[in-house]
Amino acid sequence: MDRITKAARLMIVSDLDHTMVDHHDPENLSLLRFNALWESNYRHDSLLVFSTGRSPTLYKQLRKEKPMLTPDITIMSVGTEITYGSSMLPDDGWVKILNQKWDRNIVIEETSKFPDLTLQAETEQRPHKVSFYVDKTKAQVVMKELSSRLEKRGLDVKLIYSGGMDLDVLPQGAGKGQALSYLLNKLKTEGTLPVNTLACGDSGNDAELFSIPDVYGVMVSNAQEELLQWHAENAKGNPNIIHAKERCAAGIIEAIGHFNLGSNTSPRDVADFVECKLDRVNPGYEVVKFYLFYERWRRGEAANCETYIASLKASCDPTATFVFPTGVEKTLHECIYAMKGCYGDQTGKQFRVWVDRVLSAPIGLNTWLVKFDKWELSGDERCCCVTTTKINAKGSGGASDGYTWVSVQQKWLEGYEKKDTSIWLF
Ligand code: GLC
Ligand code: MG
Repeated sequence: MDRITKAARLMIVSDLDHTMVDHHDPENLSLLRFNALWESNYRHDSLLVFSTGRSPTLYKQLRKEKPMLTPDITIMSVGTEITYGSSMLPDDGWVKILNQKWDRNIVIEETSKFPDLTLQAETEQRPHKVSFYVDKTKAQVVMKELSSRLEKRGLDVKLIYSGGMDLDVLPQGAGKGQALSYLLNKLKTEGTLPVNTLACGDSGNDAELFSIPDVYGVMVSNAQEELLQWHAENAKGNPNIIHAKERCAAGIIEAIGHFNLGSNTSPRDVADFVECKLDRVNPGYEVVKFYLFYERWRRGEAANCETYIASLKASCDPTATFVFPTGVEKTLHECIYAMKGCYGDQTGKQFRVWVDRVLSAPIGLNTWLVKFDKWELSGDERCCCVTTTKINAKGSGGASDGYTWVSVQQKWLEGYEKKDTSIWLF
C-alpha cells in the first residue's frame, strides 16, 4: 500500500476461482493475457485486489498451482481477512469490527443440529467464518431455519450460498462487499480513493461486490446461476454491471474495454512488436514485451528471422551486462546470440514466461531502475528470478522512441531455483 501515494487510476477487485482463474483452461491463457495487460499498463499506477472465499492456506496453494500475479491487497475467507502487500500484513481494524455480535461457538452449536450441513475442511474454518456443504435442493430451507435459530441466540449473522454447494456463516458486517466498502472508505480517508473501481465475480459470495455504490461490475460469462438470479432480482437494468460474453479473466479484460477504464489490449494479443508502437510510454511495457518475445521464440511461435534478432539487439546497449543468478556475467548481446540457437527448443513443453510486480523508479532524466519477478514454467518445473534492470529511454524523443537495456541482474527466488542451470537465458 505504501507504493500508492496517489489515487489509483484503476482498482480491480476480483474473485479468484472461476473468475480470475479458469479451472477449465489448463493452459491458463486468459489469466496470462490478463497478467501481461496488468503488468504492462496498470501495475505502476493502479491497484490489484484479490477477493476470495479461500482461506490463507488454500489461497497460497492456488498461487503455487496457477500463474497468478501478486495483488496489492488480498481479501480472503469471504471478506473476513484483509491483508496488504506481498508480505500480507493483516488489517487489525477490520478484525475488531467483525467481532461485533459474533460468537463462533454458538454458530457451531446451532449448526450441529442440522443433518443436511457437512462441515468443510478444517483449513476453511476461520475466526469469522464457519463453512459447510449443503445440497442445492436443501439450501433455501436450511438457511431460513438456521437464520432464525441464530437470531434467537442473539447473533447477527450473514448466510451466503455459493457455487451451488458452499454455505458460509459470517458476522453480519463481513462479506466481500462490506470488506470492499471498508477498503474504499479507508482509501478515501487517506485521500487516495481510486478513480475507477471494477469488481469481478462469478458466484453467490460475489453478489455483494456488485451493490457497492460507484463501482463497476462484471459477472464473467460462466457466472453461476445463483449470481445471475441475484442480478435479475436486484440489479437488472444497472448499466454499471455487465454479464460478459467471455469467460473468466477474458471477461475482466472485456469489461475494462466496455467501461472505458483504460487499455484493454493485452500484449499477448499483439502478434508483432516490431510493427506495434502502442502503449510504449512506460518501462513496464518494455519488460513484458521482451519476455513475451522470449517465450514465443523458445516455443517456436515467433518467426525465426534476422529482423527480430536485429531489433532485439538494437534494444540493448552493446556493453550492457547480464549477471546470472549463478553469478556468471555476460553481455546481453552474448545472451541474445545464445537465444538464437534455442529457437523452438521448448515446443510442446507447456513453456510459459510471465512477469510479476513490475515496478520502475526513475533514477535520472531518461533512466529507470525496473524491478520485477521473472517466472518461467517448463513442463512441471517452475522457476523465478528476482530481476533488477536499468533501462534508458532511446533517442531524443524520450520514451516514445523506445528503450535501451543497460544492465540486468538476477537472483533466484527462494524455493524456485532452477535445477539444471545449463540453459538459463534471461
Ligand atoms: C471457497 C472457500 C470455502 C467457501 C467458498 C464459498 O471455496 O474455500 O470455504 O465456502 O469459497 O465462499
Ligand atoms: Mg468464484
